[in-house]
Amino acid sequence: MDGSPDDISNLKYLLEPESVAVIGASRDPQKIGYQVLWNLIGGGFPREKIFPINPKAEEILDLKCYPSILEVPEKVDLAVIVVPAKIVPMVLKQCVEKGVKAVAIISAGFGEVGNIAAEEEIVRIAREGGMRLLGPNIVGVANTHNNMNASFCQALPFKGNIAFITQSGALAIALVGWTLLEKIGLSALVSLGNKADVDDADLILYLRDDPKTSVITIYMEGLDDGRKFMDAASKVSAQKPIIIVKAGRSERGAKAASSHTGSLAGSDIAYTAAFKKYGVLRASNIQELFDWAMATAYMPPLKNNNVVILTNGGGAGVLATDECESSGINLMDIPPELAEELRKYMPPFGSVGNPIDLTGMATKEWYKGALKALLSHKDVGGVIVLYCHTAITAPMEIAEAIIEAYEESNKDKPITTSFIGGSECLKSQEHLRRNNIPSYPSPERAVSAMAALLERGKYLMKPPSKAPKLDVDRVTAQRIIGKALEEDRSALSSIEAFQVAEAYGIPVPPLQVVKSREEAVSVARSVGFPLVAEIESPDIIHKTDVGGIVLNIENEDAALKAFDQILENIKKNTPTAKVIGVAFRKMVEEGQEVLVGMHRDPTFGPLIAFGMGGIFVNILKDVSFRITPLTEMEAKEMISETKASKILYGYRGMETLDINSVVDVILRVSQLAMDFKEITDIDVNPLFVYRNGCVAVDVKILLGKSEKNENKP
Ligand code: COA
Repeated sequence: MDGSPDDISNLKYLLEPESVAVIGASRDPQKIGYQVLWNLIGGGFPREKIFPINPKAEEILDLKCYPSILEVPEKVDLAVIVVPAKIVPMVLKQCVEKGVKAVAIISAGFGEVGNIAAEEEIVRIAREGGMRLLGPNIVGVANTHNNMNASFCQALPFKGNIAFITQSGALAIALVGWTLLEKIGLSALVSLGNKADVDDADLILYLRDDPKTSVITIYMEGLDDGRKFMDAASKVSAQKPIIIVKAGRSERGAKAASSHTGSLAGSDIAYTAAFKKYGVLRASNIQELFDWAMATAYMPPLKNNNVVILTNGGGAGVLATDECESSGINLMDIPPELAEELRKYMPPFGSVGNPIDLTGMATKEWYKGALKALLSHKDVGGVIVLYCHTAITAPMEIAEAIIEAYEESNKDKPITTSFIGGSECLKSQEHLRRNNIPSYPSPERAVSAMAALLERGKYLMKPPSKAPKLDVDRVTAQRIIGKALEEDRSALSSIEAFQVAEAYGIPVPPLQVVKSREEAVSVARSVGFPLVAEIESPDIIHKTDVGGIVLNIENEDAALKAFDQILENIKKNTPTAKVIGVAFRKMVEEGQEVLVGMHRDPTFGPLIAFGMGGIFVNILKDVSFRITPLTEMEAKEMISETKASKILYGYRGMETLDINSVVDVILRVSQLAMDFKEITDIDVNPLFVYRNGCVAVDVKILLGKSEKNENKP
């Protein structure tokens, strides 16, 4: 318990304090300090463990007031601070003196308005005093299971097992009302504010071991330390689902997010890749966040992607079917013996296809019988139950039938439900939710919830794998990169880039630099024809524009001519460029073009890309991404995720290409990016892929002085 940023033990006092002081508890009901006190009392926190601090008051809300926290006769675990920013440092020092373990600073006026020094000061006081600090600029913190509402939200949410962490305080306020309306129970509600000390990573690690929390949901605008978050997610995800809404998807949204909290929203693709790596589910909006949270909190993951839709209405079934197809949910064929069993629960004109249509005549008994039959069949992985309100059935009865069928099953397969209709359906939906059955008003949402369970299932079933340690020549790469950095260059020359690639085991064509006319013929012969001649100069990036490249050189005479011509063009077009020579590179046989690249993301570090190469890459955007370090499985997934990978796997009678060699290049690019933090970008584009092997036809390596989020894999 040292108050260091990595110490999460004191978070216990933030979320499960035995006593709470409110510093800045006000006598005025219009002030936040009054509301926080009111909420603590109203939420049911033991009155004798609430200590209002206010030097001007004797008593507030019938509780004795203390002029300073130092006067409180008992120990204080948590201090909620609601005094103006300028006196926060002073009261914080008193908290340290008192031995307070955690503080939640509601006060605004720090980093979010550019008051960085003040924010640094309060963090320093807290850390030196061994306290963890939540905020500043927050709505507060609430824990339903110990009746603690240390916030100025309008009420304490229902008790439940979903924890909600939010970077936006306003959203916390708004959501409490919404969760009450939707009958969604929360375990904890934490407003993060400026995240000056306690951040998302700390909280997910803490909540992993909280028995009252089974799902962690987050509204996130940005992370300062992406690697810290990934590290925490890797430790939590296998035990508890983490579901995130990350705002700032659009360019405009990213700008709004950064100005709102003062934190920079990293590139959206990197966030998606980082989340995916450790099974964090990314919801696209708040509704989806809670839909998925409910499903993952109540149901086991979908580990067998053989799903059945059970319905009493054809239209609802069709809507759900369409949604299943686009979500990757496999609707299984119903085996004959199961079909025979299901026939018992429908009229002769019912359907035992998938969707199974019990028809509008479906009764409570039919729903129960059919659902039980499905859940007990070995091939069925999960069931989506749909119900359209008919005049001959009471929705509540059908809800009851579903609850009974599920209770009587082994509860090892997930179900999601949708009740489509008016207020009676809404009541049934609430009844299902109270009985731990995820229920939604539309078929699409029930399918989306099942898709989240599928994604979770896939993550949990992944065999453990580690990034391979590859055999590379780091010394050579170091020498080349070091030299370029010494010369203050921001890119390697094309030959240098090829040499670095070669040192890292990425296949490159034979090549050599020619420095004189005398060498030209012999070098050309040793490289082999046909060859490409191109200017080797650290100052020239776009060679074609300055006449610095000649293709299709078939013989020695042509090689010599190309050498002369290139030097002449350079002299004429860019006389000041430093010329090292002319590089002769063997032209390789054309293969299937792909690209492997790396961009160093400021939040998460190296982001590896794979996609089809060629001129359409920017239009089609058929590219997949992962954050380093990469495992072999991830590299394979990257390839198969792209639509164009079908070409590599042998589309319509085309020959199958050497995918393993591409996997190897992806892993080597990943290793290179991790070994050299100075590399900001790598482009192996195009990489020609053949039946056997592949060759990098062009390699670009850009350099910079990266300081943040270095290679902490
Ligand atoms: N210790 C304890 N209480 C003290 C004190 C001290 N050293 N000095 C003053 N107080 C008392 C005040 O007397 C007052 O009580 P009173 O109303 O009974 O007189 C109370 O603390 C509050 O102080 P006050 O100066 O009236 O501040 P305020 O209530 O107007 O504003 C904040 C305080 C923290 C709410 C305000 O500065 C703020 O930051 N607001 C924004 C909060 C926010 O939006 N957070 C983010 C949400 S997303």
